[in-house]
Amino acid sequence: MSVTVRVPAKVNVQLAVGAARPDGFHDLANVFLAVGLYDEVTVTPADELRVTCEGPDAAQVPLDRTNLAARAAVALAARRGIEPAVHIHIAKDIPVAGGMAGGSADGAGALLACNTLWGTGASRAELLAICAELGSDVPFSLVGGAALGTGRGEQLTALEVGGTFHWVFAVADGGLSTPAVYGEFDRLNEGIEVPEPVASEDLLAALAKGDATALAAALSNDLQPAALSLRPSLADTLAAGRAAGARAGLVSGSGPTTAFLVPDTETAASVAGALLASGTCRTVRTAESPAVGAAVL
Ligand code: C5P
Repeated sequence: MSVTVRVPAKVNVQLAVGAARPDGFHDLANVFLAVGLYDEVTVTPADELRVTCEGPDAAQVPLDRTNLAARAAVALAARRGIEPAVHIHIAKDIPVAGGMAGGSADGAGALLACNTLWGTGASRAELLAICAELGSDVPFSLVGGAALGTGRGEQLTALEVGGTFHWVFAVADGGLSTPAVYGEFDRLNEGIEVPEPVASEDLLAALAKGDATALAAALSNDLQPAALSLRPSLADTLAAGRAAGARAGLVSGSGPTTAFLVPDTETAASVAGALLASGTCRTVRTAESPAVGAAVL
């Protein structure tokens, strides 16, 4: 018997970052929006824990116990005093190390899949607590939709979304390390008073109304200067997407994927084509949001 869970990627429509905390993390006002690009995580009983991965970028995915999917299985098994004897297979469609929470998606997916396979009966609250231990973005991968993440991003408040948003994602060559981008944020802000992170009222209203024009005007990412500093070529990608007719473009999370908000599927196709032709990215994807969170298939 196997259990398969489908889990969405995310884009941060607002990522407000505060000063570094004593524990090294940063307080955030992180507005997550799940997008319809998915990984599928399948768990099957096995003699011992094993991770395999398929997909165009599978070679970049670690298959050892550092993989968040493996860590999720280990964490749930440890709480129940059982062995994490499971084969985890990841069918990967979310860009790897791209700022779209692909690793977090696999963690949330494996957790829900193991909970179902093992009949461990963990409540939603317990699953969310394990997700928060695994990483700041993992709880959102479980819940999907749209949410405001505070604390280090793991404390979620669900948000209303009043319509469908259309996106084009430009996937860069190679990833960016999240700690390195936060480190660059700290370096760029040295000696500067960093304000408390606050969610934008205009942005939340735009989401609730499903107003893409207003959302485009309110998109913001405090990590963007740091990502651009580490990867200056992303400025060319952003310029190419805007020139091609996107309403707005920004770095997704810690990058290096860039996200472009477009009015409809036709514009998504033309912006995607222009971005690919510009030679400023490795590949392009189109997707709609919001998307539902981790779900057993
Ligand atoms: O929680 P997660 O494991 O995804 O975080 C990865 C790294 O990103 C952390 O070790 C930290 O360097 C940085 N981070 C941060 N503040 C946050 C979330 C992540 O500094 N709120």
